[in-house]
Amino acid sequence: MGQLLSATLVMLLVFVANNGMQQTEAQGVTRPYVRPPARKNLELEFSLWQTSTSSATSPTQMHVSLAGPNKMKVSWMTGSRTYNVPAIVRYGTAQGQLTQVATGTTKSYNYLLYQSGQMHHVILGPLADSTTYFYMCGGFGLVYNFTTPPPAGRDVPIKFAIVGDLGQTAWTESTLQHVAGYDYDVLLFAGDLSYADYFQQKWDSFGQMMSPYAHYRPWMVTEGNHEMEYIPLLAPSFRSYNTRWDMPYAESGSTSNLYYSFDVASAHVLMLGSYTNFGVGSQQYNWLLADLKKVDRSVTPWLVVVLHAPWYNSNSAHQGDGDQMMEVMEPILYQAKVDILFAGHVHAYERTTRAYQMNIDPCGMMHITVGDGGNHEGLASEWLYPQPEWSMMREASFGHGELDVKNATHAYWSWHRNNDNEAVKADDVWITSLSGPKSGCESSTEFIMN
Ligand SMILES: *[C@@H]1O[C@H](CO)[C@@H](O)[C@H](O)[C@H]1NC(C)=O
Ligand SMILES: *[C@@H]1O[C@H](CO)[C@@H](O)[C@H](O)[C@H]1NC(C)=O
Ligand SMILES: [Fe+2]
Repeated sequence: MGQLLSATLVMLLVFVANNGMQQTEAQGVTRPYVRPPARKNLELEFSLWQTSTSSATSPTQMHVSLAGPNKMKVSWMTGSRTYNVPAIVRYGTAQGQLTQVATGTTKSYNYLLYQSGQMHHVILGPLADSTTYFYMCGGFGLVYNFTTPPPAGRDVPIKFAIVGDLGQTAWTESTLQHVAGYDYDVLLFAGDLSYADYFQQKWDSFGQMMSPYAHYRPWMVTEGNHEMEYIPLLAPSFRSYNTRWDMPYAESGSTSNLYYSFDVASAHVLMLGSYTNFGVGSQQYNWLLADLKKVDRSVTPWLVVVLHAPWYNSNSAHQGDGDQMMEVMEPILYQAKVDILFAGHVHAYERTTRAYQMNIDPCGMMHITVGDGGNHEGLASEWLYPQPEWSMMREASFGHGELDVKNATHAYWSWHRNNDNEAVKADDVWITSLSGPKSGCESSTEFIMN
């Protein structure tokens, strides 16, 4: 009798506990995390009237990026414009045998009184997949190495690190160290890089700060509002960004460094531009349609978008900033059955369920905002209430994301908060691709135009 009673009691408890869990799963979570105080700004102090501070002829600000199938681009800066450092890279698969040589281009720019150093971009290849190459910029100096991504293939695993709004503070440093602790293949950057905000020397200090992290794995970036630096009559938009962070746009048929796409392993990644024309009939719009038509989900089952201003955002910061672009492009991306859209801009973390037109929809995209890289503007900690039903998890802390694609159907997403100097996994979810046979979501690239 007593046994029966306690068994019933246990069952009742389990029932109550399960119910409780289901409730927290069904409703979104807003995590209150009390942040430690702001950290030091690591930018150097500069004036608008100063000329270039880098005088070195030895390479600085190295970073590498994907540059088409089996190709990688090495980029670096040298200081002086009068002492010409050749845009050549010696490379090879063994440290002591840099037997191959590639040559590239050199660019520089003026911005008010600032004169940039020489930015060199050299494409290496064809390169083997998943292979470490050693390289020397300018043909002399230190030897660095990078590792190429995994081969193309529908079931090929790949690891992406995802960051946004980095800036250059002590929190940025923390985020970068945490990202470096993840053995990723490719980094995706959702815009707002240096927060130079017209002070061009801050692009140099940002380049220096990123170099230890960006010289050994490809970094793929798209622009944020802080990249514009437009001054009427005096400086066109994106002058510094385009010179320094030259992405492989022509390779995907784009005519602008502000939007492009690439294939890597089992993924097709669209890097869209929130701060250039995107309306119906614009160049970006037409390019997007053409690009999506070329996607073959049996070859690249994962379809991922990266842009700056989020479309699904329940933070009070930047409400509506992405609305116009969403209105034009969400129907197209929905038809194409995009899996995940990563955004930055809002300095917090938020993950949605799959959604379309502000409703939960199993065939819509999952939206993930990671504008929490650690810049000096601080966190966006005011949320809207009630939490929208599509918002699954939101937290105003600095951190970074990891997308671990396992095969054609499964990927594991996790977000890692900067708990002071420690990275703590604070959110995770399994994602199944909409290209899978069981998703029940058919993709179409016969776009219906209105
Ligand atoms: C490759 O580069 C990384 C990052 O700079 C470095 O930690 C590592 O030791 C290098 N590997 C070799 C074999 O030199
Ligand atoms: C894909 O990966 C998931 C997670 O690791 C696994 O459960 C599933 O069986 C894999 N699918 C195939 C076809 O291997
Ligand atoms: Fe922004």
